Amino acid sequence: MLAVYRTSQTFFSPLFTGLVVLCLIGLEMHAEPDKVFKEEIKPLFESFCFKCHGPEKHKGGVRYDTFTSYDKVTAEPDFWKTVLEVVMADEMPPEGAEQWSYGQRQDMMN
Ligand code: HEC
Repeated sequence: MLAVYRTSQTFFSPLFTGLVVLCLIGLEMHAEPDKVFKEEIKPLFESFCFKCHGPEKHKGGVRYDTFTSYDKVTAEPDFWKTVLEVVMADEMPPEGAEQWSYGQRQDMMN
């Protein structure tokens, strides 16, 4: 009885520890929108929107390279509302450009 208990302890604890660590990482991602923005959202804009709205071109007066942190994003909710609208309306990115993750955009707006 005791022997079985000991075996399962050594077998399960690394797995259990791994799960706990994964959960903590998940929590941390939610607790740090700035990190999520820099690591997940910003790269999307860089690859899909910077061609026309980046450091060199500001099509339609829109540029994204100035948004370097989540704070700057939340400072201009109206701007990002427009962004969400054009993205949802399938106006941006323009046809031919790669499609991207709507879910992540939604996450950020929330
Ligand atoms: C191939 C070039 C190109 C790419 C790539 C591109 N855009 Fe645009 N965008 C334009 C042009 C041109 C305009 C201005 C013309 C217009 O308003 O229709 C514009 C305008 C906009 C506007 C202002 C619209 C308005 O009604 O005021 C927003 C917001 C926008 N783009 C968001 C994005 C987002 C977000 C992405 C990336 C997912 C993106 N764009 C990718 C060319 C591009």
